[in-house]
Amino acid sequence: MEVYFDNAATSYPKPDVVYDKMSEFFKNNGVSAGRGAYQKAFQAEQAIYNTRKSLAQLFNIADPTRIVFTHNITEAINLALKGLLKRNDHVITTSLEHNAIWRPLKELERDRGIEITKIECDSSGQIGIDKIKNAIKDNTKLIACLHASNVVGTILPIARMGEIANEAGIHFLLDTAQTAGVYPIDVKKMNIDLLAFTGHKGLLGPTGTGGLYIKEGIDLKPLKEGGTGNNSTSEYAPKELPNRYEAGTINTVGLIGLGAGVNYILEQGVEKIREKEVRLIDYALTKLSKVNGVILYGDKNVQKRVGVISFNLEGLDHADVAYKLDSEYNIMVRSGLHCAPNAHKTIGSFALGGTVRMGIGYFNTKEEINYLIKALKEMERMEE
Ligand SMILES: Cc1ncc(COP(=O)(O)O)c(C=O)c1O
Repeated sequence: MEVYFDNAATSYPKPDVVYDKMSEFFKNNGVSAGRGAYQKAFQAEQAIYNTRKSLAQLFNIADPTRIVFTHNITEAINLALKGLLKRNDHVITTSLEHNAIWRPLKELERDRGIEITKIECDSSGQIGIDKIKNAIKDNTKLIACLHASNVVGTILPIARMGEIANEAGIHFLLDTAQTAGVYPIDVKKMNIDLLAFTGHKGLLGPTGTGGLYIKEGIDLKPLKEGGTGNNSTSEYAPKELPNRYEAGTINTVGLIGLGAGVNYILEQGVEKIREKEVRLIDYALTKLSKVNGVILYGDKNVQKRVGVISFNLEGLDHADVAYKLDSEYNIMVRSGLHCAPNAHKTIGSFALGGTVRMGIGYFNTKEEINYLIKALKEMERMEE
């Protein structure tokens, strides 16, 4: 039996329709979108627009052209932060952040003199909403945070955070790497001004895809300039979206796959996907809590988490556990800091060098969880 529990890194497998649509497009069309004036180029452009439309439906975005494609969420977050923040701007973020937010902020602090307030979450990953409110100052420009932690799975109260940002007249940037496709997201209801997504995790698309929704009225400085296939006489980047932010040939085949992944999600329904994941998270947490010597991190309430479970086994190194699971049982998990060192300081696993992380996905089963538990119990017995 081969078991993949690293869906927090990237989802695998994808629905068959994703492989099929990519292969079909690559073989039968395969041309660049938004460049040529021949039929196949128009078809490719339409197919890319359809991916924008599906994403707009998923996130309740009125105008699909406000979604710009990037290669992953890291690039989307860099575009948002570097395109928005100027000298002396103040940003509020959290102690759970992935390096995708934390590192660009630190670079901007060093190079552009921006100011960062990092709100400390409690050891389960929960945030005190008043702390955010109290951190807002005259020069606060942005609240930037993840929707759910990629270390403990804790879901932040982002509707409330969006409301606070809106009331204060500042912007709200959300990193949806661990929630897009597996948890309902509505940019209007949640007051999200900048929504960053990655295509290859819960959205079930291939790697090399992601993007940013930019609310009307927000102008970001592009990360890159170059050919866009239009306005070629101008020596500067065009003003209109999405071309303003999509210089260079886009990942057409990947974005066709992303469209297929998002359509699959829309057909299944995010609520149904979430319900199934909650059942699996609940089952895994209950079973894991019965393994001798297990240290489980995060909120005990499954409704407040996504399918990311961090744990350690007393007396065993997380890297050894992950290595044994792979080499002796064919079970794939992650170990270490998961690109979020501050999150480990928050939950108390930094001194241990991190955790074993189980990333549950839509296609995992209870049988696979049982197999993991059996393996962990065997490892524990060997230690005794
Ligand atoms: C919360 C969070 N943000 C950002 C990222 C970065 O994603 P990507 O590598 O697709 O840019 C990840 C995934 O690793 C993540 O879990």
